[in-house]
Amino acid sequence: MKMSASSKSVSPVRVEKLGANIGAEISGIDLTQNLARPDVKQIKDAFVEHEVLVFRGQDLTQDQYIHFTGQLGELTIHPFATALPDHPELIVLDNDKNNPPLSTDQWHSDEMFRHEPPWATALRSTIVPKIGGDTCFASMTSAYEGLNSSLQGFYNSLEAVNDFKVFRVLYSGTREGRERLVELEDLFPNAIHPVVRIHPISKKKAIYVSPQTTKYIANVRDFESEHILHMLYQLPEVPEYQLRVRWEPNMIVLWDNISTQHYAPRDFLPHRRRMERLTIKGSRPYGIAGKKRHKTVKMNVRGTDSDSRTGQHRKGLTRPANNILKAN
Ligand SMILES: [Fe+2]
Repeated sequence: MKMSASSKSVSPVRVEKLGANIGAEISGIDLTQNLARPDVKQIKDAFVEHEVLVFRGQDLTQDQYIHFTGQLGELTIHPFATALPDHPELIVLDNDKNNPPLSTDQWHSDEMFRHEPPWATALRSTIVPKIGGDTCFASMTSAYEGLNSSLQGFYNSLEAVNDFKVFRVLYSGTREGRERLVELEDLFPNAIHPVVRIHPISKKKAIYVSPQTTKYIANVRDFESEHILHMLYQLPEVPEYQLRVRWEPNMIVLWDNISTQHYAPRDFLPHRRRMERLTIKGSRPYGIAGKKRHKTVKMNVRGTDSDSRTGQHRKGLTRPANNILKAN
């Protein structure tokens, strides 16, 4: 069993690696209890090092779950998902054949459309299907480190435009919905994030684009953007970068949205899978160029940015945009 350096203290926390490049299981701890400060530090250190943490056998109330996760950072509220009235931070994902999950079967990092996406997500299982419903994770720091230096340098220089495009379908059916969409576009204008994001704690670099939110690579032509993204989207599919978590009841999995991506297969349908989700506040992504000012792109209700109709987001290019990666 691998012990982290800080476990030389009296802390009961044990850390055991699960994958070669990603994941560790935390044991020796009862999350119904208030954690001692050294235990919190050890969990945080293990989290940054291993990127995904698994806690088994944690039969917590919602208040205890919120309290535990809140010890790791400030909790955030999802702008679109329906939360519990008395616990606005907590989202219940209760899915079966009548309520299938929304586009979680794509590699993604949570809420990349936000200017300050959450650092971490916690998921606690309460009802698990007999078969299926695993969550697959990929280390995007390992994916970056596996690239040759020429490609690393190329990707370091790029930025990507991100949109809440997966959620647009929730508002597209009615006039009221489209009016709400306009309000949401004002609240959440497109975010330009670096393609290679630097983790503010580990300082590792991670690939940070996703088919769930990324519309296109900024300042290149449409076909160039398409091919660059196609290459980057293959990276989380490399098995050496992956960890697959088989859920059991009362398990908590905590993942780092900066250094990992995840994919939730829908193969448990038509059966039921119930999870409780919390997110921990993050910071504005930055890359090699450093912490620049916020970049936004104003969108219209069709999910296209105002400049894309004239190709102006491809600076210096005159060919009209015909970007197949636009949201719809
Ligand atoms: Fe997710």
